[in-house]
Amino acid sequence: MKTVVTIADLREALAPARDRGDSVGLVPTMGAFHDGHGSLFRAAREECDTVVVSLFVNPAQFEKDVDLDAYPGDLEADMAFAAEAGVDLLFTPSAAELYPPGFQTWVEVEELGRRLEGEHRPGHFRGVATVCLKLLNLVQPTRAYFGQKDAQQVAVLRRMIDDLELELPLRVLPTVRDLDGLAFSSRNARLTPADRRLALALPRALETRDLEAARAELAGLDVDYVELVDLDPPVLAAAVRVGSTRLIDNVVLEKEKP
Ligand code: PAF
Repeated sequence: MKTVVTIADLREALAPARDRGDSVGLVPTMGAFHDGHGSLFRAAREECDTVVVSLFVNPAQFEKDVDLDAYPGDLEADMAFAAEAGVDLLFTPSAAELYPPGFQTWVEVEELGRRLEGEHRPGHFRGVATVCLKLLNLVQPTRAYFGQKDAQQVAVLRRMIDDLELELPLRVLPTVRDLDGLAFSSRNARLTPADRRLALALPRALETRDLEAARAELAGLDVDYVELVDLDPPVLAAAVRVGSTRLIDNVVLEKEKP
């Protein structure tokens, strides 16, 4: 696996794949890899000639610096994880590389980006959409890979792709859960054992696939929202805070599309 940090080096590293006419899979990430990322990397590895993973903790999608600073990260461990999963190219740019002085162009998916996560994290999806469009432009992948755990993020990116005529297929992989049912998330690393026991109410609540039952299950927690959301596919989604950690999760209410 090759690791590059600048846009110039990324372009140079991708040139042979483009010359060969390779199919290129892009998995945008913020690092702190876990089995959820593993499933995206494996799918990209199976379906594409060249697999590119971006690892960038995007400051533009964090409302508060304290949240950004607390985001877990271990580059050495991530590099080993990605290499083991068969990733060809790891792109780890700095914030100055992607947002150089004078940067002032933003992508805003208006209505979808203001609901649910957008309501509780103003500006979040503006940061996500902008960085994803930049990454898609840089890598020009054949397919891009995302997790169903971030169902609203997928919906926002699909809207952006349709609205801006990008003609890019998104591959959305099912949420991967730990043995106790908690969805894998980089933020889980911040849960104490006691927090984790409390957090298990989240998958239990969603598993009911029933709004009232889910509300009852989450009664003891600090709940940002629990809602039936008419996405494609429709989901029962929730966000809760456990200690200083904010967790999101959802379950698909209809059979997932292949
Ligand atoms: O889901 C994430 O990890 C991030 O929101 C993404 C898509 C990498 C954009 O920074």
